[in-house]
Amino acid sequence: MRIRVPGDKSLTQRALILASLAEGESRLSGLLFGGDAASTAGALRMLGAGIGPLPADGGEIRVEGLGLRGFREPEEALDLGNSGTGARLLLGALAGSDVRATLTGDASLRRRPMARVTEPLSLMGAGMAFLEEAGRLPLEVRGACPLSPLEWHSPVASAQVKSALLLAGLTGSAFVILHEPRRSRDHTERLFTQVGASVLSHPAQGGWQVELRDPPQRIEPLDFRVPGDPSSAAFFAALAAGGGARKGLVVEGVGLNPTRTAFLDVLRRMGAEVGTEVEDPEAAEPVGTVRVSPSPLTGVSVGGDEVPGLIDEVPLVAVLATRAEGATRITGARELRHKESDRIAALVENLRALGAEVEELDDGLVVQGSAGPLSGRVSTRGDHRIAMAFGVLGALPGNDVAVDDPDAADVSFPGFWALLRSVTRQERA
Ligand code: S3P
Repeated sequence: MRIRVPGDKSLTQRALILASLAEGESRLSGLLFGGDAASTAGALRMLGAGIGPLPADGGEIRVEGLGLRGFREPEEALDLGNSGTGARLLLGALAGSDVRATLTGDASLRRRPMARVTEPLSLMGAGMAFLEEAGRLPLEVRGACPLSPLEWHSPVASAQVKSALLLAGLTGSAFVILHEPRRSRDHTERLFTQVGASVLSHPAQGGWQVELRDPPQRIEPLDFRVPGDPSSAAFFAALAAGGGARKGLVVEGVGLNPTRTAFLDVLRRMGAEVGTEVEDPEAAEPVGTVRVSPSPLTGVSVGGDEVPGLIDEVPLVAVLATRAEGATRITGARELRHKESDRIAALVENLRALGAEVEELDDGLVVQGSAGPLSGRVSTRGDHRIAMAFGVLGALPGNDVAVDDPDAADVSFPGFWALLRSVTRQERA
């Protein structure tokens, strides 16, 4: 069966932000039509950007940019809902803009750490005032332009931190060098190149470094089609690998940026048959097809440099590990404790509730595989990826899993449950 998945969440939000900062009209298509995209688009509209309604079918929209200095002061707080990417990237863009704005979000986003971006942005000269709890939203940002140059060693490999600083360098016309301990996804660097802001990117000091040495005074509009989200495709790749689609699945039109595909490598190591085909290797973002066929799975070790490339797919590795022979050990993933929920705790609690044997580590977990059926009810903690990972586990042969809050999926993958049903129904037909 051939399927498609919604537009990439990371790229949708970056494209909307850059189109809003460009001079002239951008043409964007394939955008995610989901909660996180709506939150970021809503915030950008409140800052004055000409963004019409996001189409549900991935059709083209035009965005009238404001220019790098064009944000207007919003009358109300910008509510980023559940979107950590929206909040952190907008903080960066606002830091170099001459406006004052309050940012807030839902209960999950208000628990997530913001100091990782506010600390370097304050050093650049932006005002950052936490309104309730130190290091958490809501916060008031008071932008300044120009900002001071920054050389920053981020303790975490985070594309959100990296992107916030690059956006601050862009709007605040400041030289930025960022060092991260491991390479994180590089969508911002690629889209910066598209709009005429060149970013150097290279290994350094055992990690990775990006440099915005010469921020331009204006950026070009974007003409960009957002590919399908590889993190959304991953749910169906896992379903096929685990035997939930006996003839396998083909996902078309999916992003194959090498900083996002480490999950497919893990599936191969577990024994699944995985093929990828890139349509146009020269495109700003590689797009293509992923084919996955089932095979008996074995436990693997996941950790180290590969973790940032599959950080959003760790819940899937963990649920699939219950269906593999032997143990799967996931380490180096402490960042999971700071996602939409504490995903390590959520995985451990829910896998145990279904009868799986799991050990919790500070920076990961160890899952014992078994052939026995898993059944029970899981608590998503309002986290889209927890909901969908357990949805996939429940759709694998022999299992029976009830998910308490299926609608949590909507922030990144509206239509997930319908697609899952249609794949499994076809299977039974
Ligand atoms: C994202 C980066 C990752 C990822 C998130 C999206 C992005 O977060 O988990 O879903 O769009 O930059 P971190 O940068 O915090 O690792």
